[in-house]
Amino acid sequence: MKGIILAGGAGTRLRPVTKITSKQLLPVYDKPMIFYPLETLLNAGIKEILIIIAPENAGDFLNLLGSGKEFGCKFTYEIQDKPEGLAQAFIIGRNFIDDDNVTMILGDNLFEDDFAQDIQGFQSGARVFAKQVPDPHRFGVVEFDENQKALSIIEKPTNPKSNYSVTGLYIYDHTVIDKAASLKPSDRGEYEITDLNNLYLQEGSLDVAFVNGRWFDTGTFESLFDATVFARERTLSKQS
Ligand code: DAU
Repeated sequence: MKGIILAGGAGTRLRPVTKITSKQLLPVYDKPMIFYPLETLLNAGIKEILIIIAPENAGDFLNLLGSGKEFGCKFTYEIQDKPEGLAQAFIIGRNFIDDDNVTMILGDNLFEDDFAQDIQGFQSGARVFAKQVPDPHRFGVVEFDENQKALSIIEKPTNPKSNYSVTGLYIYDHTVIDKAASLKPSDRGEYEITDLNNLYLQEGSLDVAFVNGRWFDTGTFESLFDATVFARERTLSKQS
């Protein structure tokens, strides 16, 4: 199993702070944001990690993270020239993934759960993780039938069919490379991860698991603040 941390994008919702650095380098309590998704991958035993970054602040990521030796893993870096969508990660990362399975986590997502079993036990197809949220229209939304079987995933729907959001952790087999390459940009000009997940769903190989603990997409000032409060409480409770 290989890992990808997607840490590009423009961070426009966090301006003016992100005029001088990347969103994923901002502090969440006592650590840069990217340390949290990195820990999720490391805790699952992933040792080879591709970090996809925007050109503007590439040097800052290298200064912070280096080769990976300090973290007991190996980092590879790739530049995403423009933020053309989450699914582009698998086109950029095709040589890195090769014939292996891959777990991708968004560089601004913070999870309380440990996903070691889900990641280590993964064999083929795709697995995504859903969580009930109060504002599903901000996310990819999963519709379930009465047996909790996924029927559809819709990106940022105006009228969400459930309040289950797809979170920013995705596990795929190596067919993700060809599937990503077959996608067309959406109306907003992005290669959508939701379109990719729907290809697996149509094929009958998408497994939707659930997130039990807290989950934060720290892309807005509100959620960044909430994540900081959570991280502080967690750190202090571990110390006491
Ligand atoms: O957080 C989970 C949600 O992430 C999912 O529910 C949605 O289905 C998925 O589309 C995505 O929605 P967001 O609106 O949160 O995506 P955003 O554009 O904020 O990008 C998420 C992260 O990925 C962010 O840290 C920036 C980075 N990114 C984004 C794009 C579009 C890249 O590195 N490259 C990109 O091209």
